[in-house]
Amino acid sequence: MKYRKLCLPAVAMKHLLAVSVALNVALVLKLMHGGDEGVGWLKAEETLAGPPKKALQEMSSSGGVNGVQNNFESGLQELYINLDHGDPTMYESYWKQSGDKTTVVLSGWRSISYFSDTRNLCWFLEPDFANAVTRLHNLVGNAATENYHIVVGTGSTQLYQAVLYALSPPNTPEPISVVSAAPFYSQYPLTTDCLKSGLHKWEGDANKFDKNGPYIELVTSPNNPDGSIRQAVVNGTGVLVHDLAYYWPQYTPISYRADNDIMLFTVSKCTGHAGTRLGWALVKDEEIAKKMTKFIEIVSIGVSKESQLRAAKILDVISDGYEKKESHEENEPFFEFGYKEIGRRWRQLRAAAGNGKPFSLPDFPTGKCNFSGHEFETQPAFAWMECKGETDDCEGFLREHKILTRGGKHFGSRSKYVRLSMIGREEHFNEFIRRLSVINSLDSPLTKD
Ligand SMILES: Cc1ncc(COP(=O)(O)O)c(C=O)c1O
Repeated sequence: MKYRKLCLPAVAMKHLLAVSVALNVALVLKLMHGGDEGVGWLKAEETLAGPPKKALQEMSSSGGVNGVQNNFESGLQELYINLDHGDPTMYESYWKQSGDKTTVVLSGWRSISYFSDTRNLCWFLEPDFANAVTRLHNLVGNAATENYHIVVGTGSTQLYQAVLYALSPPNTPEPISVVSAAPFYSQYPLTTDCLKSGLHKWEGDANKFDKNGPYIELVTSPNNPDGSIRQAVVNGTGVLVHDLAYYWPQYTPISYRADNDIMLFTVSKCTGHAGTRLGWALVKDEEIAKKMTKFIEIVSIGVSKESQLRAAKILDVISDGYEKKESHEENEPFFEFGYKEIGRRWRQLRAAAGNGKPFSLPDFPTGKCNFSGHEFETQPAFAWMECKGETDDCEGFLREHKILTRGGKHFGSRSKYVRLSMIGREEHFNEFIRRLSVINSLDSPLTKD
């Protein structure tokens, strides 16, 4: 009897159940459609076929997470195609077919300490991960590792914060200026100013920077969003940070071994493991490396060992694919897969975008890749596309055609441009190309001057 009194009436129970299902569904959808670079809830909802109510009905009739995935794929034509984030899901198919080779099993007792290697300046750096990073750079030839300190971070995003901290003078009345040539990676201003730090301040386009005094210039090459191959533009004595997230042979010919003072890399765009949240910095100067390490110690007392061990395995499997004959015979080597797939997508995009109208795409330099031997044009992870004709709002125009992109303003540029991801799932990319071809065949404001 006591129990019955405590129970809620059946109607209330039904309501509670409905609310709980709705919350769970909302959570699942958010998880499924969240991505890198600051994804909003609104966008997550919009990538589904219609209002949340419809999504809820679809979910309950198709049975959970996999059901949504299935519906998402089968009903693709009605859905928004989200090319806004640089979520590297293109690589999923490669890693799926590589089977158990990349599986990492960790017993409960392993990796429970805060410390990895107390003899190393970066004391939370797992030796296996450090070795795998060095091995891969030496194989590909894209960056020097000798006489460099490796600092590991929770994504290159954390290393970016660490490097700002390390390079900012602690006791000056004015924060140090941080600049990058426009169009620049949209996350830089957000991360630089998010805490309104007294140490550093975002000052925008490096081409327009004319202040005296110390500064940090970010050189992203190949660049996000426009894929250009870059060098520093400010004519001064500031400190340079080279973000080389895309200096890998699936995106651009490896024509030189980078040996800049501070270089940032990430597994997100190298192998596609964005969810592992792991990046590394190659830093020449010991004091800067120490300060970066200190920053990561203060904000997160190190970096996940599980992530480092997983990433070490993935990087080693890539290197094995080139260095060990038997793995080479089983699977296509990793960078070859990426090179072919992205190349194919760029050819499709150029054909669908039209020749300068209604859309225009940048041209890239051709070069011989010292690693693969291929002679090819840079084929970036993002396309920087311009809407021609009368349309000033390219993002808005594409949204009307159910294609979500990121407008030029986010990158310090004009809204006639959008950035769109080239490294999402194949079926979404194919549907995007189909839609672009349809737009191309229409009489639209893009064809009017
Ligand atoms: C140029 C550049 N740097 C850094 C990052 C962030 O990488 P991570 O996922 O390791 O934080 C990205 C991700 O898109 C990027 O494009």
